[in-house]
Amino acid sequence: MNAAVVYSSRTGNTRKIAEAVHSVMPAGTDIFPVEEAPEPASYDFLALGFWVDKGEPDAAMLAYMDRVQGKSVGLFGTLGAWPDSDHARDTMQKAVARMQGNRVLGTFICQGRVDPKLIAAMAKMGPNNPHVMDEARKARLAEAAKHPDENDCAAARKTFAGILRETEGLCAG
Ligand SMILES: Cc1cc2nc3c(=O)[nH]c(=O)nc-3n(C[C@H](O)[C@H](O)[C@H](O)COP(=O)(O)O)c2cc1C
Repeated sequence: MNAAVVYSSRTGNTRKIAEAVHSVMPAGTDIFPVEEAPEPASYDFLALGFWVDKGEPDAAMLAYMDRVQGKSVGLFGTLGAWPDSDHARDTMQKAVARMQGNRVLGTFICQGRVDPKLIAAMAKMGPNNPHVMDEARKARLAEAAKHPDENDCAAARKTFAGILRETEGLCAG
């Protein structure tokens, strides 16, 4: 099986998960930041990773996803929100919907430290803005700042090891 991990990462969180995913892929699997990724056509399986930007996979990964057709894929992402929130679920659903014409074998999402510059900008916004810096947001951002951690990496490895077993089934079938 010809496989690649392609990820988009501004500040390194998604890259960390990409490296964890890559560690359980078959020997010889390629790994690329999306800016350097070759066209997807030559791969049978793609693990695609994004950071969440305004409730969607980031634009660079969306553009790459749109070029993937007829493949088996696994999706992973990192975000500032709680990973079990509606926001996280909605975002991953958007990512899965974007993969129409492909076979999505599994997904993984976890928190990732939010860029302190964005936090500072949010803190300066007025009290009526949707990103108001209340106690709940502060707690969420404080937790996000600890991620991705070793548990997240282990969970990503587990998810993708399971996805790979499915691809073996597909190849055998
Ligand atoms: C411009 C910008 C927009 C973001 N939008 C969201 C968002 O809509 N929802 C969310 O949960 N996190 C959001 N985040 C947080 C990032 O998705 C999160 O910190 C992610 O782990 C960054 O990954 P990276 O280090 O791979 O770039 C945003 C961050 C930035 C900088």
